[in-house]
Amino acid sequence: MSPMSTVRLGVNVDHVATLREQRHTPYPDLREAIRLVEDAGADGITMHLREDRRHIQLADVEMAREEVRGTLNLEMAATEEMLDIACRIRPDYCCLVPERREELTTEGGLDVKGGAGWIQEACARLTEAGIQVSLFVDASVEAVDAAVAAKAPLVELHTGAYANLTQPEACRVELGRLRDVAEYAQGKATVNAGHGLHRDNVGEVAAIEGMNELNIGHAIVCRAVMVGLAEAVHEIRQAMGVA
Ligand code: PXP
Repeated sequence: MSPMSTVRLGVNVDHVATLREQRHTPYPDLREAIRLVEDAGADGITMHLREDRRHIQLADVEMAREEVRGTLNLEMAATEEMLDIACRIRPDYCCLVPERREELTTEGGLDVKGGAGWIQEACARLTEAGIQVSLFVDASVEAVDAAVAAKAPLVELHTGAYANLTQPEACRVELGRLRDVAEYAQGKATVNAGHGLHRDNVGEVAAIEGMNELNIGHAIVCRAVMVGLAEAVHEIRQAMGVA
């Protein structure tokens, strides 16, 4: 068995809510999902309250604030509405992300330099409310510098570019870039990472020196379908025989 990594794991539960919202059913129960995830060893729960409310709803964030025993990390766009919500609910962490309605998922890092004034203001407001702010940025020295200038104590490096690659040489190059940027950021900000990580590509990212936390969602929920499908069929078979 490989040794346990000491890097923190934040499990993003958005896609548990995606399944629920697909049919507007009361299940899968997000509260139960949070319990399962934390009991299984996650250090924290991550959720993204999107403007279009495609998966996580405001009530989910309110419930999570009560339910989560580890850390609650709220991903959100830096809008007035979201800042008001965050300052009221007070998650432990807020990760500011770029958001576009038409995207399937968060496609790139935040343009911290382009939005310097307003992102810095958002960081200040959240910090004042006692929330630790993280900025989701592309893995580049410029983006890290801009995040540090905006006074964010944490950066989350977008691992999508690495995760989407399949060619071993290209993966090696991109991983080297992630490593270099993570190393550059050490001492300037706490370094997290996430996006597109799964069982086959997570090890190398978790092994990056000084990595604090990985946030992983889609692949875990997808894998849960595969490891849970047989059990779910057995349960239905049983239930069919009950009456
Ligand atoms: N980190 C951030 C900032 C994200 O926006 C997302 C996706 O919501 C993730 C991590 C998790 O990505 P994935 O679902 O691909 O694991």
